[in-house]
Amino acid sequence: MKIIAITNQKGGVGKTTTAINLAAGLGRKNYKVLLLDLDPQANSTTGLGIEKEQIKSDIFDVLIHNVKFDNAILPTTAKNVWIIPSSIQLAGAEIFLSSKTSNSEKIFQEHFDNLEYDFDFILFDCPPSLGLINRNVLSVCDEVLIPIQAEYYALEGLTQLLSTISLVKKMFNSKLQIGGILLTMFDNRVNLGQEVKEEVYKFFKEKVYKTMIPRNVTLAEAPSVGKSIFDYKSNCSGAKAYESLTEEFLKNQLN
Ligand SMILES: Nc1ncnc2c1ncn2[C@@H]1O[C@H](COP(=O)(O)OP(=O)(O)OP(=O)(O)O)[C@@H](O)[C@H]1O
Ligand SMILES: [Mg+2]
Repeated sequence: MKIIAITNQKGGVGKTTTAINLAAGLGRKNYKVLLLDLDPQANSTTGLGIEKEQIKSDIFDVLIHNVKFDNAILPTTAKNVWIIPSSIQLAGAEIFLSSKTSNSEKIFQEHFDNLEYDFDFILFDCPPSLGLINRNVLSVCDEVLIPIQAEYYALEGLTQLLSTISLVKKMFNSKLQIGGILLTMFDNRVNLGQEVKEEVYKFFKEKVYKTMIPRNVTLAEAPSVGKSIFDYKSNCSGAKAYESLTEEFLKNQLN
């Protein structure tokens, strides 16, 4: 079982789109995937077809009321992909968490230790922040995947993210690695895209995925029908890009 956080404290860079479609891509290759939606906006939850009425327990109940993972897991519209849903309740969770006196960075660990199902991959769709929830995720995962939107100021804020990662690595989780950097919403027709790409390569070198996710409106439409890009329009450029990301991701796991 490999645990991966899809994270960047910058909003709207493609975390959720990547979480949904990488999960679905892995599921199509017969890996069993659990997606944890950690964003109070619950975009991964609705984007994979979960209706409010279906949810009995969500990630807030897991974090705050100690509900077992097994009691919160739901199947999604994507093959071999399950989710622990989020809800707006989660917006208040940091306050509860920070009032716990000890071990507030280790809440997920116990849940993973007691998980009854066998998953190949666990993916966290993180909220755009560097708060306590994010530190909890970093404390438990093997690697982080950082989506970066190909636009001006793309690298802004990354220094903070990287120093949070190295702090958590030092204090709580020595196995933590940067798995890869993913350029999203890439537009080849504009110079800006190329410039950002070169800048990101200079900074992260071989950590950058060769696959880049193009700007593709179909990717933005798919969540409105509760489906991954593969179940919505499997021929579009976005689907091909996420298929290629899935393959590159799996290849990296062997190295
Ligand atoms: N490659 C793409 N092409 C076109 N639109 C995209 C692409 N990737 C994401 N989008 C759209 O851009 C918006 C932001 O993407 P997304 O929700 O995946 O980002 P996020 O990092 O999860 O945001 P937040 O920080 O708010 O959680 C969404 O409306 C999404 O549909
Ligand atoms: Mg999101």
